[in-house]
Amino acid sequence: MIANRPLTLIKANVTNSGTRGDRVYTQVNNITIGYSDHGTGLPIVFLHAFPLNRTMWTTQERLLSSQFRIITIDLRGHGESDAPLWRYTLDQSADDVRALLDHLEIQQALFIGLSMGGYILFAFYRKYAARVKGLILADTKAQADTEEGKNGRFQLAQIAYKKGPSAIADVMIPKLLSPMSIQTKPDLVRQVRAMIEGNQISGIAGDLMAMADRPDSFPLLSQITCPTQIIVGGLDQATPPSDAKLMAEHIPHARLAIIPNAAHLSNLEQPETFNQIVSAFATELTNGKES
Ligand code: MLT
Repeated sequence: MIANRPLTLIKANVTNSGTRGDRVYTQVNNITIGYSDHGTGLPIVFLHAFPLNRTMWTTQERLLSSQFRIITIDLRGHGESDAPLWRYTLDQSADDVRALLDHLEIQQALFIGLSMGGYILFAFYRKYAARVKGLILADTKAQADTEEGKNGRFQLAQIAYKKGPSAIADVMIPKLLSPMSIQTKPDLVRQVRAMIEGNQISGIAGDLMAMADRPDSFPLLSQITCPTQIIVGGLDQATPPSDAKLMAEHIPHARLAIIPNAAHLSNLEQPETFNQIVSAFATELTNGKES
């Protein structure tokens, strides 16, 4: 059942905030969350993939902040946010996002989640649908993990624990980027590796457990009533176009865009196409023209 709550802003879970150098941070739900907030206009909140951080959205932030208010968040366990050694859940990440919105006094936003960011958006929508003006679900899927998938996550957590984040980068990069990008875009590969290596083991393992425990969001799809855009890289093998088509078939009036020559990190591999799709959807949402 989707909670349909009134749009009252309660700041009880936000206790402290400020800047340290270039870093903007605030305390939500007893942890520090790093985020950035640039531009004016329709707020667009970007939720990153596993095991990356908010800097995966740098190009989107740079190009779209002339038209919109762009908020990127380091999810709990990643980047400049705290990575406590504790039990993680995607509901908890959704609560962190809501607390940050309260802190920023944003009642409604367009949300973009890529892969794990999309899983968190399903959790967010279940709890806080009234805060969602529109959804962009990129390179993600509604289904829960299979038993095999859960086992794979525990094996990956063991690798993180025994060998550290650089071993996670070795495993993940071929799943995140297309073979062509790996061969021809060394700067992009370095950027992705640096994001992964910048994470703490507690955050990597915590999110793996959280993703393994996530519920099946397939029953939610038909209840999503906001305008929704789905995006997927045509070469995505982690969450392939077949998963994107399934979401597009079951979310009322959802649109689907398949980006050629991109794998799982479609926003990084084909930023121009990705930005065009986001900009067109956000512009229609602003003007109230979307179906
Ligand atoms: C991601 O990109 O967030 C991950 O590939 C998601 C997953 O492992 O299911």
